[in-house]
Amino acid sequence: MTPPTSVTVRVPAKVNLELRVGRTRADGYHDLSTVFMAVGIFDEVTVSLAPSWSLTVEGLHADRVPTDETNLALRAARSLARDIGDPSAMAIHIHKDIPVAGGMAGGSADAAAALIAADRLLDSACERDEFMELAAELGSDVPFGIAGGIAVGSGRGEQLAPVLARGSFHWVFALSEGGLSTPEVFAEYDRMLAGRRRTAPVPSTEIMAALRQGDALALGAALNNDLEPAAFGLRPELADVLAVGRSAGALGSVISGSGPTCAFLAATSEHAIDLAVALSASGLVAEVKRAKGPVHGAQVVATSTDGPRVLG
Ligand code: C5P
Repeated sequence: MTPPTSVTVRVPAKVNLELRVGRTRADGYHDLSTVFMAVGIFDEVTVSLAPSWSLTVEGLHADRVPTDETNLALRAARSLARDIGDPSAMAIHIHKDIPVAGGMAGGSADAAAALIAADRLLDSACERDEFMELAAELGSDVPFGIAGGIAVGSGRGEQLAPVLARGSFHWVFALSEGGLSTPEVFAEYDRMLAGRRRTAPVPSTEIMAALRQGDALALGAALNNDLEPAAFGLRPELADVLAVGRSAGALGSVISGSGPTCAFLAATSEHAIDLAVALSASGLVAEVKRAKGPVHGAQVVATSTDGPRVLG
């Protein structure tokens, strides 16, 4: 079979149903216990063999995505090529629909997609363990972009255990005008908890039972995020956004990851439309998105053999 010259990968956003933070580790990261759910908001990353490295971005908040060497998708493709000793260069194009710096792992999703695309493009014989290790080195949320579905994340969030769950859940996401920096939110959390003893975080029985039973009402009641007070400290208006969703009948509300995206659980798709309308009408949010979850992790959606196979 002719190897592809271009590979497109579709990758989902995530929402944290629960995020429990433990102690600060020697490497500066925090011990976490989180429950991720992949939801149907997708970025598409196309990676093509090219004479030199390049990166272009279009779509939602494209102007906020760094296109220099710090871009996580670029770093992902480069690190895979380096790891397998392949000198090829690649052109990366990202089509964004996942909010940038929104707590929905947009940058991590793009890195996950770029890793998978580069792996296919270079026909790498990278073993699954090594591949997931590479993903974890790029960022704590990158392995989940590959895995998708629902998973408990431990360690700094990169060690995944799949969760068996029933049913499909309806979500509404309220996006903010600007992003929040994850390190700043963790730093604010540390300031707020200074001197307090922290216990080792574990998943709550309420979340796990709600998922096992596919019970949206119970899941809504069990949503929780230890980083919320820190996100409110940096963006007080987020508490008002959560209140709007709750008074419009959301089964539950939570800040996703380090924010500022606010996630609301709805009972049905009609209920999700009503919630979205109420949130838009509040004038407090920049944009509203609806999505179902769980969905699959990153998947190849197109390959092409057009164009020269430029090898390094
Ligand atoms: O792993 P990632 O690069 O996505 O993390 C971004 C930043 O978020 C880290 O540099 C750290 O400041 C913070 N973080 C943390 N503990 C975690 C995950 C992230 O302190 N478990």
